[in-house]
Amino acid sequence: MNRPHVHINVAMTADGKIDSVARQGAAISSPLDMARVDRLRRDSDAILVGGRTLLEEDPRLTIKSPALRQERIALGLPENPAKVGIVSVADLKPDSRFLTTGAARKVIYTTSHTSPKQIARLRDAGAEVFIRGEVHVDLTAALDSLYDLGIRSLLVEGGGTLIAEFFRLGLADELTIYIAPKIFGGASAPTLADGPGFPLEHAPRLRLVSVETLDEGGGILVHYLIENKE
Ligand SMILES: NC(=O)c1ccc[n+]([C@@H]2O[C@H](COP(=O)([O-])OP(=O)(O)OC[C@H]3O[C@@H](n4cnc5c(N)ncnc54)[C@H](OP(=O)(O)O)[C@@H]3O)[C@@H](O)[C@H]2O)c1
Repeated sequence: MNRPHVHINVAMTADGKIDSVARQGAAISSPLDMARVDRLRRDSDAILVGGRTLLEEDPRLTIKSPALRQERIALGLPENPAKVGIVSVADLKPDSRFLTTGAARKVIYTTSHTSPKQIARLRDAGAEVFIRGEVHVDLTAALDSLYDLGIRSLLVEGGGTLIAEFFRLGLADELTIYIAPKIFGGASAPTLADGPGFPLEHAPRLRLVSVETLDEGGGILVHYLIENKE
């Protein structure tokens, strides 16, 4: 199978939460971390998020810095990476930020539960829509398709359910985690890898590349390679 290089990036608290129990997209990143993520976006062909993040937070998924966008343009690249959503029922509003913010290719992988009417609406709003799966999106097929669309480097920005699936299927290569010096607590608050959990013998293994202090306030950045079994 052909697939892009997959880099997962998240911001989490010291207790492993990527949002609070309120699930309203709590701010975790610091300004320095946001600038780092902007550079990661500059270096990626596409940015991907899962269905709940897409529908509940409606992220823009664009490069914030005009200077970084200019760097891409100077290299003959599109101003922004492609935006990719993995969503079982693509109930996205045509005026959503995902569809309307910034000059970017928009790609949606969904299932046969998305109605033809919804698909037509998304296509009218400029999105490329692909059915890949019955109940959930077949991630392997979606990555294969992204490769066919010319995507070679993919930045996965959450949430925890989707990231767990990337791990389970052995589809991810790198992981960077910004760890904020905060505790959110709450058993139901989303974590870096949610879903049903892994049997111990299949627990994904990581190889540490680097740890660095990012902020004077105590935020750190950890970089791992993901050891996928062949
Ligand atoms: N701190 C960070 O870096 C960061 C980044 C992004 C998001 N977040 C947080 O993460 C939370 C959302 O995460 P989440 O785990 O609830 O949702 P998610 O990972 O964003 O989306 C998961 C949903 O996508 C759909 N889906 C379709 N095919 C799938 C597949 N093959 N594998 C996995 N999911 C598939 C499913 O929807 P159905 O259940 O409808 O079928 C699934 O529930 C929010 O609170 C958000 O703030 C944090």
